[in-house]
Amino acid sequence: MSDPRNPDLAEAVRRLQAGDLVAFPTETVYGLGADAANPQAVARIFAAKGRPADHPLIVHLAGAGHLDQWARDIPQEAWDLAEAFWPGPLTLILKRAPGVPKAVTGGQDTVGIRVPAHPLALALLRAYVQAGGGRNGLCGIAAPSANRFGRISPTDAEHVREELGDAVSLVLDGGPCDVGIESTIIDLSRDGMPPRLLRPGHITPEQIEEVIGEMPELPDTMKPAGVPRVSGSLDAHYAPRTPMCLVPTPGIAEAIEKEKRAGKRCGVLLHTAPPLPPVHSHRQLPGAPDGYARGLYAALRELDQAGNDIILVEAIPTIPTWDAVADRLRRAACGSGTA
Ligand code: TXA
Ligand code: MG
Repeated sequence: MSDPRNPDLAEAVRRLQAGDLVAFPTETVYGLGADAANPQAVARIFAAKGRPADHPLIVHLAGAGHLDQWARDIPQEAWDLAEAFWPGPLTLILKRAPGVPKAVTGGQDTVGIRVPAHPLALALLRAYVQAGGGRNGLCGIAAPSANRFGRISPTDAEHVREELGDAVSLVLDGGPCDVGIESTIIDLSRDGMPPRLLRPGHITPEQIEEVIGEMPELPDTMKPAGVPRVSGSLDAHYAPRTPMCLVPTPGIAEAIEKEKRAGKRCGVLLHTAPPLPPVHSHRQLPGAPDGYARGLYAALRELDQAGNDIILVEAIPTIPTWDAVADRLRRAACGSGTA
């Protein structure tokens, strides 16, 4: 599928140039792509996802060489991070270049940009450049995760079809995603302010610090114990329709019994092997964060579709290497149970 002469790619480029939507794999999750320079095409993304128009999208590029088309006053840290991590699961928030439609940035003066590492995504982006790109010769593909707003991100082409059905006419199939959770987002747009981590992901704050010589500001949920935390509102996101809650390992057996006594069918998501009573359905994920992240969304999706009344998720370790997974689980639990 990574062959740029693949007819699907030529067709994908034609559709993007015509203002249509094309879903494609990235190493993190599948994206729902449109010509980032075409406001009508971008509007189709928001319609297909049911996403509020003030939520900004990430613009995907073939390489850092195209950054100047989309961002202005690019700080040295951005070039250094691009050099270190692109192609890869890192999104940079930078000041928006004048030609970037506000539809992409949700009306903000900043823009999110990344170069994805999946060979098929890169082949698509390069074919797009070769074909002259989109409107005004700009070569960026705006793409949020290819799920309905607030729901579980797709990590397989089949998930995209389940989520979006006919709303997307072409889905490039690149197999299951390797990382499995969305990119790390770092905000470098604030003059005179330190870089700020907006979304944890596969690339850690420590890896970012190694490159730019400064630890990014962390969200409250990731501050070390002892640092005062402000309890902020949590965006419900990545959520199954079935109610879901996190349960510490020693409490799972009891939680299952309690739900069963109330006549409920339980799904459980584990990463260790505690002795448990029988349940309606269960999924086992690896006990290390990378493998867990890779399988997480597919497992949640399956548990959501298995006719459970509740999904009990074994709580994960509260140590920094699990921060990105912890973020997704908290949000999924928070948004779960709404049809
Ligand atoms: O891994 C990923 O980043 C995937 C793949 C497809 O690339 N994309 C993705 O997009 O997760 P989406 O739209 O589901 O999430 C984009 C996130 C949102 O939380 C949005 O608020 C943030 O990026 N974002 C985008 N532009 C921003 C900006 N200018 N300022 C602040 N946040 C921004
Ligand atoms: Mg998303």
